[in-house]
Amino acid sequence: MNIAVFASHGGSDLQAIIDGCKSNQIHATVVAVISNNADSMALQRANNENISAYHLSAKKFGSEEALAKEILDVLANHRVDMVFLAGYMRMLHITVLEKYHNRIFNIHPALLPKFGGKGMYGMNVHTAVIEAKETETGVTIHRVNAEYDSGEIVAQTTVSVLENDTPEILAARVLEREHTFLVEVIADMINGKIVLG
Ligand code: GRF
Repeated sequence: MNIAVFASHGGSDLQAIIDGCKSNQIHATVVAVISNNADSMALQRANNENISAYHLSAKKFGSEEALAKEILDVLANHRVDMVFLAGYMRMLHITVLEKYHNRIFNIHPALLPKFGGKGMYGMNVHTAVIEAKETETGVTIHRVNAEYDSGEIVAQTTVSVLENDTPEILAARVLEREHTFLVEVIADMINGKIVLG
């Protein structure tokens, strides 16, 4: 099973997937990392692990269509079976969504359908959770479709919100859980405990 990971910034979720593969908890290989951000830590992490790393952006190729074609070429060249969006800040083009229908997943740092949609990323999510006085938040892994955060939910886990949490403290607690949850869920997807459809 060949996995491609798309990431825009820090890539700590990417690292968790790579480490899960290396330790054999996930029976798969991360074969390509794609980022729209040339300076992202995610690309550095891929380089450190000798994983093919690609900076692909619409700016670089002139249009969303041209970008999609490059992305599809990379995925085909690496015989990618499954795509994971781990902090990827761009919408995928419809041609990519169609080609990898049901095989593209995203991780979101809250319990969707709450606290999702356009603008709900990064610290905005955790600030909204605290402002809403939620006592519980969590992590959602869902399929990706043409609307932000609205594809079918594949797996969720909860994380407590504590009384004195700031958005930053809560974000760190959620991210830590993301790292273990990603490994558990991808492992279950691959061994068939979570049916991919
Ligand atoms: C995570 O919180 C993830 O849920 C969201 O983007 C963040 C990625 O963090 N989609 P990192 O770049 O992997 O450290």
